[in-house]
Amino acid sequence: MGDRSRSAVDAVERGIMAVEDDPLVDSVGTGGIPNAEGVGELDASMMIGNTYRCGGVSCLTETKNPIAVARKVMELSPHNMLCGEGARKFARALGFPPYEPVTPEAKRRWGVLMQKAGGEESKGAGEKWAQAILMLSRSGQLGAHGTVGVLALDASGLIVAGTSTSGPPLRLPGRVSDSSVIGAGTYATPAGASSATGEGEYAIKYNLTRRVCDLMGEGHSPTEACERALKEMLKIERKSPFMALIALNSAGTPGGATTGGSFSYYYERGSERVVRVTPAPLSA
Ligand code: GLY
Repeated sequence: MGDRSRSAVDAVERGIMAVEDDPLVDSVGTGGIPNAEGVGELDASMMIGNTYRCGGVSCLTETKNPIAVARKVMELSPHNMLCGEGARKFARALGFPPYEPVTPEAKRRWGVLMQKAGGEESKGAGEKWAQAILMLSRSGQLGAHGTVGVLALDASGLIVAGTSTSGPPLRLPGRVSDSSVIGAGTYATPAGASSATGEGEYAIKYNLTRRVCDLMGEGHSPTEACERALKEMLKIERKSPFMALIALNSAGTPGGATTGGSFSYYYERGSERVVRVTPAPLSA
């Protein structure tokens, strides 16, 4: 960000919006591959560690930047999360214009995936759902997608986490991702902030980012906290899902860990150059 006078909340929102707006990223915002019915349902959330204020949106349709709507849920509504039609109406009420996030290329790739799954666009909704369930469970598609997570600490000590995703391709309509769930894909406390990527079902089951923040509160470094949270999950799960976590503590130290796959995170302190870190995959 060129303007260094802005807050950590602005940094998280702007950083995530840059990825949401990139049509080449096929699992976040514009260009995300749609759900089993061809609808672009988008999820995002944000949390301020110092105050525990948070906001999230799940299954938001026809809107460009779910993270900006999640921020408004946090700042303006008496609630923590809005979903589906209610989230869309809230966005419209606040002046977010109607917008179709599913690009022609995302729709084309959706069609190819539907065909591979044995489905056809012309079949009824019920059949498409059934096909999607089969495809998701057979092919591990749930793991084959991404997320954008941004953590920021500003000069005033404000520490903020944010996450956004369109979810896995061919997900069932109404599927709620970890990226919209506080404690699963996004969490922050005065001790630090954390964001998750990977198979969101696991981040929800194990409240992974909440666990990372608790571990940082107990004095673990951000990397140790991410590794411990994932190892606790791997002790219970027989298969090793793709999950990766990033964390930032209140001293400005970043960290991260992954169970596998190709995963890197980037950090920048003040005017220092951006550093890329690629953690080695963990085992149980
Ligand atoms: N972690 C993003 C998702 O599961 O949708």
